[in-house]
Amino acid sequence: MIAREGNKHKVKDWSGKNEKWVKKTIFFTRPCHSLLLVEARENPSREEVNVKMLPFLYFRSAWQENGGLFLTAPEIAASAPAPIFKGRVCNVSQSMQDRDGKIWMDGQFVEWRDARVHILTHTLHYGFGVFEGIRCYQTDTGSAVFRLTEHIDRLFGSAHILNIKIPFSREEIIHACLEVLRQNGMKAGYLRPLVFLGAESMGINPKPCKVRVAVACWEWGAYLGEEGMENGIRIKTSSYTRHHPNVTMTRAKAVGNYSNSILAKTEALTAGFDEALLLDTEGYVAEGSGENVFILRKGVLKTPPLDSALEGITRDAVMVLAREMGHTVVEQRFPRDEMLIAEEAFFTGTAAEVTPIRELDNRQIGIGRSGPVTKAIQKRFFDVVHGRDPAHKAWLTQVY
Ligand SMILES: Cc1ncc(COP(=O)(O)O)c(C=O)c1O
Repeated sequence: MIAREGNKHKVKDWSGKNEKWVKKTIFFTRPCHSLLLVEARENPSREEVNVKMLPFLYFRSAWQENGGLFLTAPEIAASAPAPIFKGRVCNVSQSMQDRDGKIWMDGQFVEWRDARVHILTHTLHYGFGVFEGIRCYQTDTGSAVFRLTEHIDRLFGSAHILNIKIPFSREEIIHACLEVLRQNGMKAGYLRPLVFLGAESMGINPKPCKVRVAVACWEWGAYLGEEGMENGIRIKTSSYTRHHPNVTMTRAKAVGNYSNSILAKTEALTAGFDEALLLDTEGYVAEGSGENVFILRKGVLKTPPLDSALEGITRDAVMVLAREMGHTVVEQRFPRDEMLIAEEAFFTGTAAEVTPIRELDNRQIGIGRSGPVTKAIQKRFFDVVHGRDPAHKAWLTQVY
C-alpha cells in the first residue's frame, strides 16, 4: 500500500480510504504490524530524529516514545517495503494486544487477539500472581532458551511461596514455553509465563478462584537500549525503598511486588535517568527495578546478598562466569557511596542481560563508560547465550 517516488511516499491510512503523498518521510518496518514514521535528516543520530505527527493519517493507535512516533497500522505494515532508512532510528514498538500469533492459555493455544480475561479477574484487582521472564537466543545450531528449567523452577517456587497451586506440571509448562515459540515461528525473543487467579470470586481471599496460566512470547531487543548496552546507562537512587522480606516475600517473582519497581522506574525516567537503583530498608544497595546489580571495587566483584533482591538467574550465571574468568565474586552489602567510587558497575537480568552503568546520581562511575571487566563479562555472557561457549551448553534448551 505504499508507493515510492524519489523521497516521496504515497501512503494510505489503515482504513484504506485516504491516500496522500508524503515528502521526506521515512518508513521503517519490522515484521508484524508496526510502522515507525519519522521525519529525519540524512543519517541522524538518535537525538536528532525529529518526530512529526502526520494528522491526516489515521492509525489504530499512535504514541510517542524515546523520540519516535509509533503507529499501529496493520494493513500498511503488512505490505510496506523493506526498511529504506539508512541512519539509526529508535526501536520500533507495537501494541501488545493487537498482533498476529498464538498465546498458550490454560493448556490451549488461542489466537493472540483472543487471549483475554474478564475485568473481574482477581489478579487484576489485588496483584496476586507470579510470573517469569525468559529469553530465547539464536545460536549457530538453531534457537535455544537460556536456563529454561531454572526459570520454571523459580516460577513454581514463587507460586509455592504465595501458596498458589499451579494446575500443570513443570514439564507441561516447559513444553508450553517451547511450543509457544514454535507456534509463533520465533527464533529469538522473550517468553512470559504468568500464573494468575481467575474471576470466580472477589475479595482478598483468593481460595475460590481458579489458578490460570498463560505463556506468551514476543521479540524484545536490548531492554535498556542498544546505546546503554554499549556505553552504559545513567541511574538514580530511588526515593522508594526495596521490599522488606517480611512485607512481601522477595524470593517470589510476584506480580504485586512490581508496584514498587514501577514507582521507582517511572520516578527515574521522569527525572531523566535510564533506570532506578533501589536501597533496602537499612539503606544498602538492593537492586534495580528489574535487575540485580554488581560493582567492581578494588578488583573484587560485589553483588548484594538476597535479603530483598530477587534471586536472579542472570546474576547466578554471571557469578559463575566471572569466577571462571578468574574474578573474586562476593555477595556482600554495600552502600551507595561505595558504588559511586567503584571502578565499574553493571546490571544483570533476563531483560537487561549485562548492562553497564556509567553514572549514579549524576556522578560518573569509573571511566564513565563500560569498563574492561564489564565488557569482558558481557562478551562471555553473550557467547554463552548464543551457544558459542561449549562449557555452558547445558544452560541452553534447543527450540528448533
Ligand atoms: C526485581 C528484579 N530483580 C532482578 C531481576 C533479574 O532476574 P533474572 O536474571 O532472573 O531475570 C529481575 C528480572 O527478572 C527483576 O524483576
